[in-house]
Amino acid sequence: MNELQREIREIADEKKALILAHYYQTMDVQEIADVVGDSFELAKRASLAEQNVIALCGVRFMAESVKILSPDKTVLLPAPDAGCPMADMVTPEDVLRLRREHPDAAVVCYVNSSAAVKAVSDICCTSSSAERIVRSLPQKQVIFVPDQNLGAYVASRVPEKEVFPHSGYCPIHHAVSEKDVLAAKSAHTEARLLVHPECPPAVVAMADGVGSTAYILKTVEAAPDGESFIIGTETGVVERLRATAPGKKTYLLRDRFVCPNMKKTTLHDVKRALERFEENIMLDEAEMLAARASLKRMIEVA
Ligand code: 13P
Ligand code: SF4
Repeated sequence: MNELQREIREIADEKKALILAHYYQTMDVQEIADVVGDSFELAKRASLAEQNVIALCGVRFMAESVKILSPDKTVLLPAPDAGCPMADMVTPEDVLRLRREHPDAAVVCYVNSSAAVKAVSDICCTSSSAERIVRSLPQKQVIFVPDQNLGAYVASRVPEKEVFPHSGYCPIHHAVSEKDVLAAKSAHTEARLLVHPECPPAVVAMADGVGSTAYILKTVEAAPDGESFIIGTETGVVERLRATAPGKKTYLLRDRFVCPNMKKTTLHDVKRALERFEENIMLDEAEMLAARASLKRMIEVA
C-alpha cells in the first residue's frame, strides 16, 4: 500500500466506515476496499454490514441500492458524477406503460436502474441472479427492464417464460461484435471465451461461459495454471486477474473495454468522501420504501 492508501485505511478505521468496491474499479481503489465484489455481493454485503458508514466505490445505482437497503446508514458515493448510462434508459413511466401493455406480467428490474424504477417494479435482479429470479416467479409473462441483452439471455435460459425486454443496453458491452470475437479467437486459438450477459446475443452465443463479473473471476481463478481465457467484460476484471490468477493467461476481448464511469473514482475522492461525508446519498422516503421491497425480494430469492 502507498502512503495515500494507508491514510485512507486509517480514516476508514477511525470513522468505522466500510469501503465497498466493484470489480471494475481501478486496482488502487480495489486494494483499499474491505470488500470487492459484483453488484449482487456488494448489495448483500451492505445489507449485513455492522458499520454505520458505507463508502461505495462504483456508480450511482450501486450506492442508491445500499442506501435503500440501509436507510439509517450514511452511504457515500466518492465520485458523485459516476452514473450508469443504461440505468438512465428506463423511466418509471416506461415501466407503467409496459405494465398496461402486459397486465399479467411481473416486472423484473436489473439493479442497473434508478430508485424510482425499482419502486415501480416487482423484484430486482443482478446479472448473477437474473435467471434464478425469473425462474422463481409465479407469472408466465415477465417484463424485463432496462437491459435488452440480459433480458434476451434470461429468455434463452428460461424458455418456459415469455420475456418482454425493454430496449436499454450498456454502451460498453453492447459495442462488442461477432467480428471482435472472431479476431480474438483467431489470435488466441487455445483460449476459452467468458462473457458478461450485457453483451449482444450473437456474442453470447459464441461464448464458452456466460455470467457476472464474479462468475468470470471465479472461473478463471479455479482453472489450472497455464490455461488461457478471452475476457468479455470491463478491463478491471482482467487487471484483477493479473493479481489473483497470475498463472493463467487472460486477454481482453476488445481494445478499450473500459467503463468511463467506473473509472471516475480516485483515491483522493475516497479520502475526501470519508473526511467530509460527501456525497451523502439522500433519497425520497416513499420511493425508498417501495424500492426496498423489490431489492429485499431479490436477496431472499437469490
Ligand atoms: P455485475 O453484476 O456482474 O457486477 O455487473 C455490473 C455491471 O454494471 C456490469 O456492467
Ligand atoms: Fe453501466 Fe455498462 Fe458501466 Fe456497467 S459497464 S456500470 S452497465 S455503463
